[in-house]
Amino acid sequence: MSDNIESHLSENRIFKPSKEFSKNARIKSMAQYKRMHKESIEKPGVFWAREAKELTWQKKWTKALDWKPPYAKWFVGGKLNVCENCVDRHLTNGRANKAAIIWEGEPGESRTLTYRQLHREVCQFANVLLAQGIKPKDRVLIYMPMVPEAVIAMLACARIGAVHSVVFGGFSAESIVDRLSDCKAKAVITADGGYRRGGVVPLKANVDEALKKYKSVETVIVHQRIGDKIPMKRGRDVYWHEEAARVSTKHVAKAFDSEHPLFILYTSGSTGKPKGILHTAGGYLTGTYSTCKYIFDMQDDDVYWCTADVGWVTGHSYIAYGPLSNGVTQVMYEGAPNHPDFGRFWDIVEKYGVTIFYTAPTAIRAFIKAGDQFPDSRDLSSLRLLGTVGEPINPEAWMWYHEKIGGGRCPIVDTWWQTETGAIMISPLPGCTPTKPGTATLPFFGVDAAILDETGEECAPNEGGKLVIRKPWPSMLRSIYGDKKRYRDTYWNDYKGMYTAGDGARTDRQGNFWIVGRLDDVLNVSGHRLGTAEVESALVEHKAVAESAVVGRPHEIKGQGVVAFVTVKGNIKTSEALAKELRNHVGKVIGAIAKPDEIYFTPSLPKTRSGKIMRRLLKELVATGEVSGNITTLEDYSVIADLQKNLKK
Ligand code: WTA
Repeated sequence: MSDNIESHLSENRIFKPSKEFSKNARIKSMAQYKRMHKESIEKPGVFWAREAKELTWQKKWTKALDWKPPYAKWFVGGKLNVCENCVDRHLTNGRANKAAIIWEGEPGESRTLTYRQLHREVCQFANVLLAQGIKPKDRVLIYMPMVPEAVIAMLACARIGAVHSVVFGGFSAESIVDRLSDCKAKAVITADGGYRRGGVVPLKANVDEALKKYKSVETVIVHQRIGDKIPMKRGRDVYWHEEAARVSTKHVAKAFDSEHPLFILYTSGSTGKPKGILHTAGGYLTGTYSTCKYIFDMQDDDVYWCTADVGWVTGHSYIAYGPLSNGVTQVMYEGAPNHPDFGRFWDIVEKYGVTIFYTAPTAIRAFIKAGDQFPDSRDLSSLRLLGTVGEPINPEAWMWYHEKIGGGRCPIVDTWWQTETGAIMISPLPGCTPTKPGTATLPFFGVDAAILDETGEECAPNEGGKLVIRKPWPSMLRSIYGDKKRYRDTYWNDYKGMYTAGDGARTDRQGNFWIVGRLDDVLNVSGHRLGTAEVESALVEHKAVAESAVVGRPHEIKGQGVVAFVTVKGNIKTSEALAKELRNHVGKVIGAIAKPDEIYFTPSLPKTRSGKIMRRLLKELVATGEVSGNITTLEDYSVIADLQKNLKK
């Protein structure tokens, strides 16, 4: 903590957008930002109604906001079709033949879909879903590689009012089971596989395994990406292209209520069970539309590329809904950043003339490590704006991004937000906000962010506290699917009527927000949230394990690495082989991202007298090699001494 404070305080480098950039940007000056921000906070209904009006509504709302904490309804009484806004409306505004998605597969092929072609594909697939009996509000699980069909599937669900739940393709069969049984999905959309790092990810095989345990799925629609022969279960599994050939390519988008559920996306919390974050149509679309417009400053001739996977919220908001509702041209890439080498991203930027590039700090750190020869040997001069998301960016990585990728000329928008917030909440506006390496700077329009201490008082500059949002915003989560109590307890219990983000933060004297990191037992591994409790419960599922405690430790590339302390059952012998087995076991239960970097076997875990595991001590131990904090509540001192010795070895 104190290191963070010092490095923040000593960060004096300030970068202002060039006059040229500001002149063409939507928001050109801090005065304009401040005026609009003030209005958006004082009269949110007026501000957001103006934004929402830029979208297509089949029926106008009667009231912009209905707020009964902690439940918000936006654009009450309004009706719209989210998919129509992302696709159909560009057929009549001059963008019909504009590229919507320029896709590149990992093996190197590329494919372009214009808005007209995207429309045709989406309508056709909507008809496939209807033919399979999918109805409004039915849940559909999507488990896909990064191919246009992933976005088409999401849009087709939205089009017919079904609720999608996308599961990241790196998650395991067991993770699919958990999500299927929580949201009670009726259908699954997947692919025979996807290319990743030269290999094939067996998506359909994982779905098959999951469906042995969760049996209520009626239909599995399989997109043929690879073309190998795979088992198809008669009466349940169908091929996308075969079903598509049977239905019309015409479909008229019906309007749904503004508060109609749009999607459920699972994210880690502090218990073993992921939370199904529920977003609804009108507010979410307005938030993602508006943030793309102002923060990425999307213009008609931009080529935008967000490197996230559609399985994360970034892929929902900043690949699917935000960019498409803005009618921008975007690049989508299937594979790994280092395949065949670390020049791949920069090849793509050069080849398609990417102008706006949005990625994660962990990727930037991996590029720095790989060496400057990769970006140096490519022409990156098309870039005009850069963005980051997912975790705090260390100033070194920021400077490298600025100089090596941005050529010193591109503003960087460091965007802070969450699965729960739906859209970016704190970020520079590229045409006006002075940026400093490491801060997400200032709240977006309509965002009343503050940092509070335990008593609810606002913290002074440079004093650390909890990040809260004091007013509702359109793209906020509406609930945790099927668990209103957890929704209230997790987000709305700390301070009356305010949303607690779960992040620690501070402001500097200029009012910039510096995010320090999660305050709960959630790790941020390569920009992705991972609950320590999830990893612990995966470990104790293994027959050799009696008990475990999982903590994070600083990691050069991943931001945080996963360290597990494991106590085995009485008759079990510990060994390197067992550690490996446990690591793979976690990979199988959750996904590769959750595999512990290190496993330490210990005869017992440090506990309080009441039996609570003291993770704080373990965290300190793995970070510094010692424990200096208060250990008076510890039940048995020798446990820590032993671990300390063990770790030194
Ligand atoms: C962290 C990702 C610092 C934060 C969009 C948050 C960040 C969690 C930033 C949400 C940023 C995200 N600076 N920290 N620019 N962006 N975070 O739900 O801890 O996967 O609470 O959403 O990531 O992760 P999630």
